[in-house]
Amino acid sequence: MRVVHTQTELIEALKILTHIAFVPTMGNLHEGHLKLIEEALKKTKHVVVSIFINPLQFNSKDDFINYPRTLDEDLLMLQKLDVPLVFAPSKEDILEPSQTIEIQLPDIANDLCGKFRPGHFNGVATIVCKLFNLIQPELAFFGKKDFQQLFLIKELVNQLSYPIHIIGIDTVRDKDGLAKSSRNNLLSEENRKKASQLFKLMHEMKDKAMQKTSSFKEIEEDAVSLLNASGWRVDYLTIRSAQSLKTPVFNENQMVILGAATLGSVRLIDNIEFCIQD
Ligand code: PAJ
Repeated sequence: MRVVHTQTELIEALKILTHIAFVPTMGNLHEGHLKLIEEALKKTKHVVVSIFINPLQFNSKDDFINYPRTLDEDLLMLQKLDVPLVFAPSKEDILEPSQTIEIQLPDIANDLCGKFRPGHFNGVATIVCKLFNLIQPELAFFGKKDFQQLFLIKELVNQLSYPIHIIGIDTVRDKDGLAKSSRNNLLSEENRKKASQLFKLMHEMKDKAMQKTSSFKEIEEDAVSLLNASGWRVDYLTIRSAQSLKTPVFNENQMVILGAATLGSVRLIDNIEFCIQD
């Protein structure tokens, strides 16, 4: 496995790789990330993984500073998977001192997580474009865990004509249903036990929506009240069209329930997809 830390080294190392499958990450790797890499390796041996904690996508300096940095452990995991190339640049190498060019994302980038984390998806889009430009992959793997991010990356690739096929991978969960996340380690023991409540509640919302006995609005309001009453602080918990991420319109049937809520000081996000039968 080759690990490179600068754009110059990366360009040199890429000379012997063709038809690349790319997996961008911010490190602190867990089974969710590893699943993406395993799926990439099923398609080709030429997998490139990036590890970069992107300051542009953090809303608070503290959140950025406290983000777990575990490069040595991450590299050991990638070595075990036999990943041929890892790009782990420094901030100074990959970002310009005045990184001011921004991509105008569709309005939906300012809804859901974007509403509570202004500018977050612009930061994601900027780094992802830079990485796509440097690595020029044929395939790129993203988790459905970050459903809105995956949606926006697909839009980005379509609207900017990147010749890259984006592959979304199902969310990897703990036994109790909690989606694997680098943030889970920050939960207290008590809150870790409570944390699967978000996913379980989303399942109940899905069942109710499929039974069609209450309106989506009622289902959402009940779920938000229940979660807030159990000690969470809900940012949003909503049923949307899986195709547009907007409020579903008449005769749409591919749905997604998206939620973000804070437990203690840890903000968790999750989603589940479902189909409404006619
Ligand atoms: P990060 O949070 O490190 O996640 C890297 C990739 O792993 C993302 O595509 C994310 O959706 C996926 N992932 C995380 N948890 C997962 C889980 N439980 N199951 C399946 N996939 C999971 O997302 C980012 O980094 C950044 O925004 C990035 C795209 C790297 C740009 O900086």
